[in-house]
Amino acid sequence: MDFDVKDIKLAAEGKNKIEWAENDMPVLAGIRDDFAKSKPLKGAVVGACLHVTSETANLMITLKAAGAEAFLCASNPLSTQDEVAASLVKDWEVSVFAIKGEDNKTYYRHINSVLDKAPHVSMDDGADLISTIHSKRRELISRILGGTEETTTGVIRLKTMERKGVLEYPIIAVNEAKTKHLFDNRYGTGQSTIDGILRATNVLLAGKKFVVIGYGWCGRGVAMRAKGMGANVIIVEVDPLRALEAKMDGYDVMHSKEAAKVGDIFLSVSGNINVIGENILSKCRDNVIVANSGHFDAEIDLQYLKKNSKAVKKARPFIQQYILKDGRRINVLTEGRLVNLGAAEGHPASVMDMSFANQALSVKYIYQNSSKLEKKVYPVPEEIDRQIAHLKLESMGIKIDRLSTQQRNYLNSWELGT
Ligand SMILES: NC(=O)c1ccc[n+]([C@@H]2O[C@H](COP(=O)([O-])OP(=O)(O)OC[C@H]3O[C@@H](n4cnc5c(N)ncnc54)[C@H](O)[C@@H]3O)[C@@H](O)[C@H]2O)c1
Repeated sequence: MDFDVKDIKLAAEGKNKIEWAENDMPVLAGIRDDFAKSKPLKGAVVGACLHVTSETANLMITLKAAGAEAFLCASNPLSTQDEVAASLVKDWEVSVFAIKGEDNKTYYRHINSVLDKAPHVSMDDGADLISTIHSKRRELISRILGGTEETTTGVIRLKTMERKGVLEYPIIAVNEAKTKHLFDNRYGTGQSTIDGILRATNVLLAGKKFVVIGYGWCGRGVAMRAKGMGANVIIVEVDPLRALEAKMDGYDVMHSKEAAKVGDIFLSVSGNINVIGENILSKCRDNVIVANSGHFDAEIDLQYLKKNSKAVKKARPFIQQYILKDGRRINVLTEGRLVNLGAAEGHPASVMDMSFANQALSVKYIYQNSSKLEKKVYPVPEEIDRQIAHLKLESMGIKIDRLSTQQRNYLNSWELGT
């Protein structure tokens, strides 16, 4: 079996972790049981480029149960859990190509190792697999039936490809499912980002001025959790509606240059480039903490810091402290890569349960319906989204009301008024 992991001897620890996550992934487990009986992916080769975590392991196991051959590489050089990678190889015979901390060359070598298996379906978190296929491995395109995309940044890249007419096969944007972004981006990123910052720094959040840049699904979640721990949250936005929403949600809203002067912690979660750049780094106080939870490590302008520093020191395992020429210290967490996966373990299994249930059912949908799909970015079919919400509620022992016939008729009528 072909694989490249850090140390296969870590497998026992990884197996425990995978089983621990499984306890909190009942929806995916139900889908796996169904798949094991009906084998809807028999003969399919799935190439996945996802964060190699214990939750992703459960998705890979589900795809195998469905009859697919699954190959996995990392969607970020820092997010791999080496013990999980080892266990997937040893205990579940899933080929994994990922090592935490791999350099850029190895990262792309691993992507190409997955592509060498000639997948029918590509699975992405950030669109690196798809963009490699479209730019350097075009010989694979004719065999590919479709792909899925997990995150906001990847969906933005893919919609751009569709708009420019260069997208070569259909994509299902898993991120657009309500059972994905309303929960994973908001509650998952919210909790795990705080977890990452705390594990990296061990600072007290109570009383800190915590600046969140980007009040989207992830930003809302981080702001909510930081506020809950007693921080004074300040929002920086470019979208007037979201800025207004943040204000009415009870946060201070400021221009980045104003926030720069008062913030203790700066967290970017915008999916955009250099949002923490000269605007903030030239004005902020001494010894501030700077982190990113957006998909790519482009959100903090590290070039600016490198150019304006006289020294860099490793202050703690996940902290690079830049000592600027004017003497101020800026503490950058996890090299500007997503802090929740770099310093903590990413999202809790309970939210990934829904995200990966969407992935599993979307792969099945592509495999069975590819002939009807065009070279477009599609949302997750609504029936899948609703099915997952129902299954999650059921797993939590929650029953909800149903519309009566009278109520359904009322909602479908226009004649009745005042
Ligand atoms: N860390 C994780 O585990 C994780 C999980 C899910 C998504 N993500 C990533 O997080 C990022 C945000 O995702 P989202 O779902 O919240 O997206 P979103 O589109 O809902 O929100 C992004 C927000 O950032 C704002 N923004 C953009 N440029 C800005 C700027 N220069 N200054 C201030 N605000 C700016 C936008 O107006 C928008 O409101 C994406 O890169 C996504 O891929 C990370």
